Amino acid sequence: MKRNDVLIPAEELDRQREIRQQLYQRISRLPEQPLAMVDTYGCQQNEADSEQIRGMLSEMGYAFTEDEGEADVIVINTCAVREHAEMRVLGNVGALTHTKRRKPSQIICLCGCAMQEPHMAEKIKKSFRHVDLVFGPHVLWKFPELLSQVLDKQKRVFETPDDPGRIAEGLPVVRQGKLKAWVSIMYGCNNFCTYCIVPYVRGRERSREPERILEEVRQLAAEGCKDITLLGQNVNSYGKDLGLDIDFADLLEMVNAVPGDFLIRFMSSHPKDASQKLFETMARCEKVAPQLHLPVQAGNDRVLKAMNRHYDRAAYLDEIRRLRELMPDIVLTSDIIVGFPGETTEEFEDTLSLLAEVRYDALFTFIYSPREGTPAAMLPDPMSKEEKNRNFQRLVALQNQISAEKHAAYVGKTLRVLVDGENADGKHTLTARTDGGRLVHLNGDKALVGTWQQAKITGSSNWALFGELV
Ligand code: SAH
Ligand code: SF4
Ligand code: F3S
Repeated sequence: MKRNDVLIPAEELDRQREIRQQLYQRISRLPEQPLAMVDTYGCQQNEADSEQIRGMLSEMGYAFTEDEGEADVIVINTCAVREHAEMRVLGNVGALTHTKRRKPSQIICLCGCAMQEPHMAEKIKKSFRHVDLVFGPHVLWKFPELLSQVLDKQKRVFETPDDPGRIAEGLPVVRQGKLKAWVSIMYGCNNFCTYCIVPYVRGRERSREPERILEEVRQLAAEGCKDITLLGQNVNSYGKDLGLDIDFADLLEMVNAVPGDFLIRFMSSHPKDASQKLFETMARCEKVAPQLHLPVQAGNDRVLKAMNRHYDRAAYLDEIRRLRELMPDIVLTSDIIVGFPGETTEEFEDTLSLLAEVRYDALFTFIYSPREGTPAAMLPDPMSKEEKNRNFQRLVALQNQISAEKHAAYVGKTLRVLVDGENADGKHTLTARTDGGRLVHLNGDKALVGTWQQAKITGSSNWALFGELV
């Protein structure tokens, strides 16, 4: 696609702004300010999209509520990555028939990845008649226009065009907190891992211009943001479509040069594109957190090939070795899929041995879920659910043991942490994060939230650290 076709034209975005202003005029004449609720499923990309949905709602004059009973507009931002995520959405949307019966003027909107799947949009159209508006990720920026169509015409609106995807710059945002922020640097995915629905619902890879990203980071830094996560399905292929001779490592270097007292994280990285230049840049840039999420998915070469991952076990392990040479204390995390179609228990055991070799700090583990329209969903899948579950339990048990050992090694150390919230565990008053992103429970004054502190680690579990302020 030509760059001009990727950017949504300014006139179109201006038109949406006008619609927001018109709605604001209308809404400001109401006796009471109407309320909106936004509920988000799925990954950080969806969280970031929901911040733009809140931004648009806020400009249209809505205040926010967490109570679906009192909301005038409900927006559910859905995920399609596994069946479980879709079933949860359908269950919760089904339950909204009751709130709508009590408040017939309520407008229910569904958006996000699951709505871009034709069978899901069709199901909503036929069987969930209380849903007023369905829109896909490609038309997020059109939400004001679509909402006003529902308000004006009192009819159901479905807008889920099939699209390679474009970029809408300058949408308003209402962020969840001041301390941490998501910054999307690119959208879509070109990798077509055989199990994954994301490329079908999120379109092709497209990168934001570096200057737009830097502008956003500068503003966040000026507002006191301390922890910025750069987002993309595969940030390592950032810039390939820009023709500017800027890759992800260059972008990191530029973000690192923005003045301010903040840490930079990023996700996700695809191992096939993680370059030595990236590792060297991470090691050199003082604001880049000593942390890397590098999803491996499986430890067996035949399975990796069937997944279309474009690396093998040896290449992956070599990357980890080179990274640790440069950053010995780096915190490493990964995603693992158990039970890919045709994976035998013997092949699964290669994943266990990879875990034992790498010793990740933490893991996100999933049982394979067939996604309609993906190549893997067509493969024979003879292993029983019980055997997959047993393998899954073995994986979790091994990782728990490794995480517990890694966390125990922190005890006695004093580290910098960012105090990021009040604690709800009943035993500690504060939560904090190490630079590497590990959770620390602490006691101290609530006024410390938002500050860097030194913490002495006094205890650990397989999921967190416990410490005291120095
Ligand atoms: N783009 C990111 C992750 C996207 S989805 C990346 O490549 O790292 C997050 C994780 O969900 C994936 O890493 C994978 O482990 C898991 N996942 C994706 N599709 C899945 C499926 N069909 N079944 C089970 N897990 C899946
Ligand atoms: Fe899915 Fe693979 Fe793209 Fe990640 S890289 S979003 S797992 S297709
Ligand atoms: Fe889910 Fe879409 Fe993210 S499918 S994981 S919300 S990109």
